[in-house]
Parts: sequence; structure tokens; C-alpha cells
Amino acid sequence: MNRKKIFASLLVIVLILIIFAQNILLTEVPSSPAEGAVSIPPVEAVMPAPPAEVTTPLPPAEATIPLPAAEATIPLPPAEATIPLPPIDVTLPILPEKETFFTPLPTERKRENVGMDKCIKCHKDQSARWEGTIHAKWSPSFTTPEKAKGVKIECETCHGPGSLHVEDNKERLFIISFGPGSKDTKAEQNTVCLKCHEKGGLYYWNGGVHGRNLRCADCHHVMDNISRRYLLNKTSEKEICFQCHVRQKSEGFRSPHLSHDEAKMTCSTCHTPHGSSTQGLLSASSVNENCYNCHADKRGPYLFEHLPVQENCLLCHKPHSSIHRPLLKVRQPFLCLECHSNLPVKSTGMPDPHNVMDPRSRYVYNRGCTNCHPMIHGSKHPSGARLQR
Ligand code: HEC
Ligand code: HEC
Ligand code: HEC
Ligand code: HEC
Ligand code: HEC
Ligand code: HEC
Ligand code: HEC
Ligand code: HEC
Ligand code: HEC
Ligand code: HEC
Repeated sequence: MNRKKIFASLLVIVLILIIFAQNILLTEVPSSPAEGAVSIPPVEAVMPAPPAEVTTPLPPAEATIPLPAAEATIPLPPAEATIPLPPIDVTLPILPEKETFFTPLPTERKRENVGMDKCIKCHKDQSARWEGTIHAKWSPSFTTPEKAKGVKIECETCHGPGSLHVEDNKERLFIISFGPGSKDTKAEQNTVCLKCHEKGGLYYWNGGVHGRNLRCADCHHVMDNISRRYLLNKTSEKEICFQCHVRQKSEGFRSPHLSHDEAKMTCSTCHTPHGSSTQGLLSASSVNENCYNCHADKRGPYLFEHLPVQENCLLCHKPHSSIHRPLLKVRQPFLCLECHSNLPVKSTGMPDPHNVMDPRSRYVYNRGCTNCHPMIHGSKHPSGARLQR
């Protein structure tokens, strides 16, 4: 065999192989499932692939940005524990709160009365101011229980016998003192005053919220005439109450009951600060009795009553102030809907005043139910059953 022949036959074999291989590749189409069914080419393959993200030049890695000095390097303030703590009050003996008995003295010796003259020597200023108060001026001729005993009120009537205090005025337990800074308990302080003032307005003191929480000296200052009457610790009564009742202070500014000083209405017009038999320290026997004192027209009697009015004015009103006039706790119609949630709505297709949420209801001007039911507190008219006249 010559070389030419071998080369030619090899070429032929290679060609045949190429054609054969092409044939195989072309026939390797995914086998169509059923006859007639259109073969769908693989979707992904036909769509041009988006340029790979990796090709876009990346911004310099964040790590390369110079970081600010680590926080740890900032010098920390010295730990709180190192700050010297103020000495705790533990040096004062913690005394048990007792209702009627005074804290035992840290000595066996008895306290004796020394008389007012001794006190005046060292407490000139206080004594001079106290001389102007009703307690100093009071004499047993006044008609009080003290009359029978024939005593005059002196320093030691309130502060207790002062013999030990005159000797050692640094030991605070040797004299009774008052106010929040005193070492005598609340009950001990109040007992002193209640000795003489247990009746009248103070009758309910022990049962009331103030009696449980406050001292007489929280509202009264008996060593001086700060207020015109009643030995109060502020010039006006409202200011006393506002010390603690901050919300009522803000209410007072927008209250028809309290905003005008010339109206002469103050907190104790409705409340008794010393306690009462009524909830909310009211001076009247109920909320409604309190309101009737001035709004007597609302008492009735009515031919047609509106039941909640007889029950409690506060079902609809707020006593101090409200952002809804007149002192309503909720705006109309929502106030009325609190109870009248199933109003009869006529299905005539016409706008119905009782369908309050219907914007076409031109009858419900301002969404006010009292446009048609003005006698909201009760009607005296024979045909006012629906509080309409
Ligand atoms: C020798 C002078 C002297 C005499 C007398 C005297 N006191 Fe004092 N009293 C003082 C001094 C000083 C203080 C202040 C003590 C203090 O702040 O540590 C004081 C404080 C008080 C306090 C306040 C106590 C406290 O805990 O806040 C009352 C109350 C008091 N005296 C009432 C009286 C009465 C009542 C008499 C008459 C029985 C009297 N004192 C007689 C010197 C005297
Ligand atoms: C009706 C009771 C009563 C009488 C009487 C009375 N005190 Fe007071 N004293 C008090 C009360 C309460 C306080 C507490 C201060 C206050 O009212 O805010 C007080 C406070 C004081 C203080 C403390 C000083 C201060 O401003 O905190 C001294 C001192 C004092 N009285 C001395 C006297 C002397 C002296 C007399 C007699 C001239 C006297 N007291 C009579 C009830 C009384
Ligand atoms: C929450 C404040 C408050 C406290 C606490 C308080 N009072 Fe009054 N007190 C008043 C006011 C305000 C008046 C004057 C208004 C009124 O009640 O007519 C008054 C008036 C008085 C009156 C004269 C009128 C009356 O009702 O007889 C006496 C006495 C009196 N207080 C004693 C005391 C005694 C004692 C204590 C402690 C047991 C005390 N008060 C605690 C606020 C207070
Ligand atoms: C020894 C009895 C006695 C003691 C204790 C006493 N009071 Fe009085 N207090 C009187 C007398 C008496 C009057 C005169 C008015 C009256 O007739 O009720 C009076 C009047 C008052 C008034 C009314 C002032 C006015 O302008 O009408 C107040 C407030 C008052 N005392 C508060 C106190 C307080 C607070 C204490 C305790 C720190 C106290 N009293 C302790 C007997 C006492
Ligand atoms: C020293 C603080 C203080 C002063 C001053 C004060 N109160 Fe109070 N008052 C209280 C505390 C504490 C309560 C109890 C609150 C609670 O339990 O939620 C209270 C409760 C009340 C209540 C609600 C009672 C209830 O049953 O819910 C009324 C009303 C009231 N005070 C009226 C007054 C009036 C009026 C004055 C001024 C003469 C006054 N307060 C002054 C502390 C004070
Ligand atoms: C027109 C009468 C009236 C006047 C004036 C008045 N109150 Fe009231 N207050 C009421 C009634 C009513 C209540 C509700 C009582 C209840 O819950 O049963 C009340 C409730 C309160 C309460 C209990 C908490 C709350 O807000 O419901 C406090 C505290 C209070 N009043 C403080 C004051 C103070 C402080 C003043 C003076 C600035 C004042 N009141 C003036 C009638 C009045
Ligand atoms: C001491 C008398 C007095 C008492 C008690 C009283 N009021 Fe009044 N009230 C008045 C006066 C005065 C006005 C008128 C104020 C004005 O016109 O500025 C008024 C006004 C009103 C108004 C109308 C407010 C406005 O914006 O027009 C309502 C509502 C009201 N009071 C409800 C009550 C209720 C509810 C109570 C009981 C919790 C009550 N009042 C207790 C004196 C009182
Ligand atoms: C069912 C809710 C409701 C109750 C309960 C109620 N009120 Fe009213 N009150 C109203 C409405 C609503 C108005 C406003 C009327 C208007 O816009 O014409 C009003 C207005 C007032 C007014 C001012 C206008 C006027 O008629 O003088 C006073 C005062 C008043 N009420 C007092 C009282 C008193 C006092 C009580 C308790 C006896 C009370 N209200 C109970 C809903 C009520
Ligand atoms: C706290 C609940 C309450 C609120 C708030 C209230 N009502 Fe009433 N209302 C009643 C009750 C209870 C009756 C009596 C129903 C009865 O007798 O069947 C009544 C009766 C009525 C009647 C007479 C209808 C009848 O069937 O006799 C009318 C009209 C009326 N209310 C209108 C109003 C209006 C307008 C308001 C708002 C300003 C209002 N009510 C707010 C509870 C309430
Ligand atoms: C356009 C006038 C008008 C308005 C606005 C109006 N009502 Fe009436 N309401 C009436 C009339 C008229 C009746 C009597 C209907 C009847 O007897 O069939 C009535 C009846 C009632 C009744 C008695 C229903 C019953 O069962 O017999 C109640 C409760 C009532 N209205 C509450 C309200 C309330 C709450 C509003 C505010 C959302 C309101 N009304 C707004 C005119 C009105």
C-alpha cells in the first residue's frame, strides 16, 4: 500500500466520522413527549445572559477605608462606684409608724413643761410671727371644748414639753416638729392637731384619701398668717391643691368653673379637703347633689326624664374642664352613641338623621343630636317624650 492511499482512506474515515458525529448531535433534541405537542425550547437557554456581576469593577472594600479610632480608646469616665457616695440616712433610728403613741425618747428622763417665755428667748422670729395667729390670740373664753379645761395655747401645746430640748437642742427627738422634714411620723404629727380639731370638718379625716396620705402641715402653716384665713401655707387655696394636683391645675385654666377668680369658685366649693362620706372628697352627698347646688334647673321634676341625667351628671359631663363644650366628656354624636348604639334607621332610601355616619344627612348639622332633641336633661312638655321640646 502506498502512502497516498492510506492518507486518502484516513481522510475519508475522518470525514465520515465528522458527518456521523454531526448527525448524532442534530438528532439529540429533547425527545418530544407526544405527537403534535409543540416542543418548548428551554427558556433560559434562549435569553441572553445578563453580564455577570463579577465583571463590574468593585468599589474598594470597606475594610480599606481608614476607621476612626476605636471607641474603646476614648478615656472612660471613672466608674460610678468610685464616686464617693453620700452617707446614707441610716444613722437616724428608723422608727415604727404608730397610730397613737409617740416615739419613745432615747432617754429615761421625762420631758417637762418649761413655759413659753423660755422658747421665745431662743426663737424670737418664730414667736413674733406666731403671736399674730388665731391660736395665739385664742383664749379659753372662746366656745370650744378647751373652754372647760381653761387652757391657753402655748408653744408646748403643739411642740410638746420642752425641758429636754432647752438643755440639748441638737437631739431632734426632744421636741415635736412638723412637716415633711420632721422625724416624727405623719400620724404623730396629725394626732397633735386632731387633739383639738377632731370634730366638724375633720370628722371624716381618718377615712379619707388625704387623711391616709397627708399631714396637716402639707396644707396649713400655723406659725404665721400666710393666707387671709384658715392658716394655709399658700396665699390662695387653689395654689395649695395645685402643689400636688398638677393635672387639675391645667384643667383649671380652661374651666368654666375655675378659670375666673372673680367667680369665687374654688376647689373647696365642691370638695372638702379633710375628707367626706362621698367618693371623690365631695362636700355634697353625691355628684348630682353637688351640681344641683348651682344648676338647680337640672334637678327637675320632669314629665319625661332622661335616665342618665338622674343617675350621674358625669355620665356625660366632666366636672373641671373639657375640650368639648359645654364640659362634655365626648363630642356629639359619639356621646349619645355610647348608649344609643341601635338607633332606629328607616330604610326609605332617604337620608336619615339617625344614620349619623351618612354624609348626606343634612339634618344632622354638626352631627348634633341635640338639634332635634334639645331637652336633653328632661322634658316638661306633654309631647316631649323624645326630649324634643
Ligand atoms: C437655748 C435655746 C433654745 C430654747 C430655750 C428653745 N430652743 Fe428650740 N431650738 C433651738 C435651736 C438652736 C434649734 C435648731 C436645732 C437644729 O437646727 O439642729 C431649735 C429647734 C427647734 C425646733 C425645730 C426642731 C426640728 O426638728 O426641726 C422646734 C420645733 C423648737 N426648737 C421648739 C422650741 C420650743 C417649743 C421651745 C420652748 C419649749 C424651744 N424650742 C426652746 C434652741 C432653743
Ligand atoms: C398650733 C400648734 C403650734 C403652736 C402653738 C406653735 N407651733 Fe411651732 N410649729 C407648728 C407647726 C405645725 C410647725 C411646722 C411648720 C409649718 O407650719 O409649716 C412649727 C414649726 C416650728 C419651728 C420650726 C421652724 C420652722 O420654720 O420650720 C419652730 C422653731 C417653732 N415652731 C417654734 C414655736 C414656738 C417658739 C412656739 C410658741 C411661741 C410655737 N412654735 C407654737 C405648730 C405650732
Ligand atoms: C389637702 C389640704 C389640707 C389638709 C391636709 C388639711 N387641711 Fe385643714 N383646711 C384646708 C383648707 C383648704 C381649708 C379652708 C377651706 C375650707 O375647708 O373651708 C382648711 C380649713 C381648716 C380648718 C378651719 C375650717 C374648718 O373646717 O374647721 C381647720 C380647723 C383645719 N383646716 C384643720 C386641719 C387639721 C387639724 C388638719 C390635719 C389633721 C388639716 N386641716 C389638714 C386644707 C387642708
Ligand atoms: C389646744 C388645742 C389646739 C391644737 C393642739 C391645735 N389647734 Fe388649731 N385651733 C384651735 C382653736 C381653739 C382655734 C380657734 C378657732 C376655733 O374656735 O375653732 C383653732 C383654729 C385653727 C384653724 C382655723 C383658722 C381660721 O382662720 O379659722 C386652723 C386651720 C387650725 N387651727 C389648724 C391647726 C393645726 C394644723 C394644728 C396642728 C399643728 C392645730 N390647729 C392645733 C385649737 C387648737
Ligand atoms: C401634699 C399633696 C396634696 C395636696 C396639697 C392636696 N392633695 Fe388631694 N390628694 C393627694 C393624694 C396623695 C391623693 C390620693 C390620690 C390617690 O389615691 O390616687 C389626693 C386625692 C384627692 C382627691 C380625690 C379623692 C378620691 O377619692 O379620688 C381630691 C378630690 C382631692 N385630692 C382634692 C384636693 C383639694 C381640693 C386640695 C386642695 C385643698 C388638695 N387635694 C390638696 C395629695 C394632695
Ligand atoms: C364644680 C365642682 C368642682 C370643683 C370646683 C372642683 N372639683 Fe374636683 N371634682 C368634682 C367632681 C364632681 C369630681 C368627681 C368625683 C367622682 O369621681 O365621683 C371631682 C374629682 C376630682 C379629683 C379626682 C380625680 C379626677 O380628676 O377625677 C381631684 C384630684 C379633684 N377633683 C381636684 C380638684 C381641685 C384641685 C380643684 C380646684 C382646682 C377642684 N377639684 C375643683 C367637682 C369639682
Ligand atoms: C358652686 C356652683 C356650681 C357648681 C357646684 C357646679 N357648677 Fe356648673 N357652672 C357654674 C357656673 C357659675 C357656670 C357658668 C360659668 C360661665 O358662664 O362662665 C357653670 C357652667 C356649667 C356648664 C356650662 C359650661 C359651658 O361651657 O357653658 C356645665 C355643663 C356645668 N356647669 C356642669 C356642671 C356639673 C356637671 C356640675 C357638677 C359636677 C356643676 N356644673 C357644678 C356653677 C356651678
Ligand atoms: C345624657 C348626657 C347628659 C347628662 C347625663 C347630663 N347632661 Fe348636661 N348637657 C348635655 C348636653 C349634650 C349638653 C349640651 C346641650 C346643647 O348643646 O344644646 C348639656 C348642657 C348642659 C349645661 C349647659 C347648657 C344648659 O342647659 O344650661 C349644663 C349647665 C348642664 N348640662 C348641666 C348638667 C347637670 C347639672 C347634669 C346632672 C344633673 C347634667 N348636665 C347631665 C348632656 C348631658
Ligand atoms: C349613659 C347612657 C346614655 C347616654 C350617654 C345618652 N342616653 Fe339617651 N337614654 C338613655 C336611657 C337609658 C334612656 C331611656 C331608654 C328607655 O326608657 O327605654 C334614654 C332615652 C333617650 C331618649 C328618649 C327615647 C325613648 O325611647 O324614650 C332620647 C331621645 C335620647 N335618650 C337621646 C339622647 C341623646 C340625644 C343623647 C346624647 C346627647 C343621649 N340620649 C345620651 C341613656 C343614655
Ligand atoms: C332631624 C332631627 C333628628 C336628629 C338630628 C336626631 N333625631 Fe332622634 N329622633 C327624631 C325623631 C323625629 C324621633 C321620633 C321618631 C319616632 O318616634 O319614630 C327620634 C327618636 C329618637 C329616639 C327614640 C327611638 C325609639 O326607639 O323610639 C332616640 C333614642 C333618638 N332619637 C336618639 C337620637 C340620637 C342619639 C341622635 C344623634 C345621633 C338623634 N336622635 C338625632 C329626630 C331626630
